[in-house]
Amino acid sequence: MEDKYLEENREILNKNSSNILIRKVNPKDATQYIQHINSVWRSAYKHIFPEEVFIDKEKNAYKKIETFSNDYYNDNTKMCYVAEDNGIIVGAIYGTIKSTYEYYEGKGFADLVALYIKPEYQGIGIGKKLKDIFIKWAKENGAKKFVIGVLKDNIKARKVYEKWGGKLDEYVQPLYKFGVKYDEVFYTYDL
Ligand SMILES: CC(C)(COP(=O)(O)OP(=O)(O)OC[C@H]1O[C@@H](n2cnc3c(N)ncnc32)[C@H](O)[C@@H]1OP(=O)(O)O)[C@@H](O)C(=O)NCCC(=O)NCCS
Repeated sequence: MEDKYLEENREILNKNSSNILIRKVNPKDATQYIQHINSVWRSAYKHIFPEEVFIDKEKNAYKKIETFSNDYYNDNTKMCYVAEDNGIIVGAIYGTIKSTYEYYEGKGFADLVALYIKPEYQGIGIGKKLKDIFIKWAKENGAKKFVIGVLKDNIKARKVYEKWGGKLDEYVQPLYKFGVKYDEVFYTYDL
């Protein structure tokens, strides 16, 4: 079936000599997708979480792989795309048409839940391209605004979200990992 959010059902970004292909996720991506998220977590949050948090997440990977087809299908309530370089997933986005954060639920916010680019592929436009697909999809499915939640100490991502025009909300949500509290902050965007 045609993908109306992409040209010719897929899109190519150029990085030096390699071509980055952007496409919808499919059930065959399950293992690679979950491993990709876990590995980018390790690099992005190494200054925030202790080792036990990563080990715990990796231990639970098999459950996520098992439920992958249900969790990451694309329809008018959820979207999930990947960027791949020669068959290897190097970027991923997951979004929902309704935010599941209690604070934003029922207030008309779509949610850019996850955006993870491999370190060697950051800063070359993959994140922006995936975010633009999310925006197109969210608008078409009736959203007028969206939210991105991000760890307060994830300064690199926060700078990108600010560059994209996000308004820092006053709301801060605690996130507990092994009894330690981390703060999550939120950027909101009008569509
Ligand atoms: C944050 C992240 C998603 C951004 O994706 P990316 O592909 O690296 O970003 P892009 O190359 O598309 O750049 C996006 C914009 O931010 C700017 N930018 C990139 N890195 C930046 C930085 N460190 N500081 C300020 N601006 C930056 C770019 O100039 C670009 O601007 P433009 O959209 O006006 O052209 C990506 O770096 C990432 O996956 N980081 C690690 C995981 C993570 O923290 N994810 C967020 C979880 S909430």
